[in-house]
Amino acid sequence: MTRTDGYLLDNRRTEAGERLDALATLFDPTTFRHLERLGVGPGWRCWEVGAGGTSVVSWLAKKVGPTGKVVATDIDTSRLTPAARPPVEVRVHDVGAEAPPGEGFDLVHARLVLVHVPDRERALRSMIKALRADGRLLVEDADPALQPLLCPDEHGPEQQLANRLRHGFRHLLADRGADLSYARTLPRLLREAGLRRVEADAYFPVTSPACAALESATVRQIRADLVTAGLATDEDIDRHLANIASGSMDLATAPMISAWGRKG
Ligand SMILES: C[S@@+](CC[C@H](N)C(=O)[O-])C[C@H]1O[C@@H](n2cnc3c(N)ncnc32)[C@H](O)[C@@H]1O
Repeated sequence: MTRTDGYLLDNRRTEAGERLDALATLFDPTTFRHLERLGVGPGWRCWEVGAGGTSVVSWLAKKVGPTGKVVATDIDTSRLTPAARPPVEVRVHDVGAEAPPGEGFDLVHARLVLVHVPDRERALRSMIKALRADGRLLVEDADPALQPLLCPDEHGPEQQLANRLRHGFRHLLADRGADLSYARTLPRLLREAGLRRVEADAYFPVTSPACAALESATVRQIRADLVTAGLATDEDIDRHLANIASGSMDLATAPMISAWGRKG
């Protein structure tokens, strides 16, 4: 298969809104816990990288208040418009290709973004450069190679089909330049970049209605890609969607690794 360029899960597709809502349900509690612990509060200047939807941006806006600032960037800001009022500033920006949208940030955060960015090394450098001295970096990314299964309990044909389609999804992501074992390297990368007090942890749901919503929206969004690449048939996908709708499967996600530290 020849390498395809570009982000696979384009925010302008109708299913993207469902995906972003499900990601917020699944991962916002973990993200907010980390952000609280890093001390985000009134007057902070934050850069939310690859913001996607509004949930993290709106939470940050409340925390920093009118004296703070939240710069929310994405290659596609179509889902960010409802949050675009002070203290939030929304900008179209490619973190792997452009200079940072400012400097002296108290906090830079990216969730489920860098794994998709082909030049993620440059992206991480840029994010660290944008921090003030002692500023906090929080990078959270999925590590699908660490836990590759949609159904860890593969006990029947429905689960086998689910895991086969998940394998196809990972294939498509890798073909677009995603590094599916990047997240586990984050603590080392942060330390090597000179950050202090580096720590990391991981979270993943083993079953949840939001996992089913995420999987259904994802498979509907990438249906044509899976079929064109010969990774699944339309019948496979219809059967899988019906299996999800029946509620009989326990669906998981890849673990999300959160790594954080302070600039030099
Ligand atoms: C899986 S979504 C995650 C969205 C959000 N951070 C969250 O956790 O809900 C990935 C986001 O990264 C954005 N993205 C992909 N490549 C990017 C790049 N090179 N620069 C900035 N954003 C990018 C996508 O448009 C999308 O909004």
